[in-house]
Amino acid sequence: MTVLTLQQADIHKGYQILVNREHPIQNNAYFTRKILPIGIESSRIQLEKNTANLLNQLLNSISAKEKIVLVSGYRNQKEQEEIYQSSLLENGKRFTEKYVALPNCSEHQTGLAIDLGERAENIDFIRPHFSYSGIAGKFRREAAKFGFIERYGLDKEAVTGISHEPWHFRYVGYPMHKSCRNNSFV
Ligand code: DAL
Ligand code: ZN
Repeated sequence: MTVLTLQQADIHKGYQILVNREHPIQNNAYFTRKILPIGIESSRIQLEKNTANLLNQLLNSISAKEKIVLVSGYRNQKEQEEIYQSSLLENGKRFTEKYVALPNCSEHQTGLAIDLGERAENIDFIRPHFSYSGIAGKFRREAAKFGFIERYGLDKEAVTGISHEPWHFRYVGYPMHKSCRNNSFV
């Protein structure tokens, strides 16, 4: 595995941007200028332009558009706040702290993150089902080739402060995915 060393300033910009509770979004103007609908019919999901294009290509390459549902993409600060507050009411503090990032500390606010679910009658918005087999397994095997990594790995909870989220993928760009694979990007 290649390990890239970034300068402190690098963590706040570009596709390697690091956003978590210790690194809230500082200036998201670069990405929010380029947020657009992903272009899948009837989808209201928005993502950063390059991320949207590559996710489209990835889904097409495995013929997954009918089988994989885009559950949540770009969120603005207000939306993240609303999700956080409604989860607090519905699910309580412990659950919310595990599965919902604080406003301004969510990768979804960059437009580089997507939550995916396997098509089903009922899909949980906060914890959609996205397994390690079938079409979801196929997506995982191909994801890195298109610059996507699975985030919030099982063994990284102490570092990320977020529980295992097998449905959350983050675009990090090519060739960053090589050093981010296996969840070494925390
Ligand atoms: N579910 C992730 C941590 C978020 O809310 O950004
Ligand atoms: Zn997510």
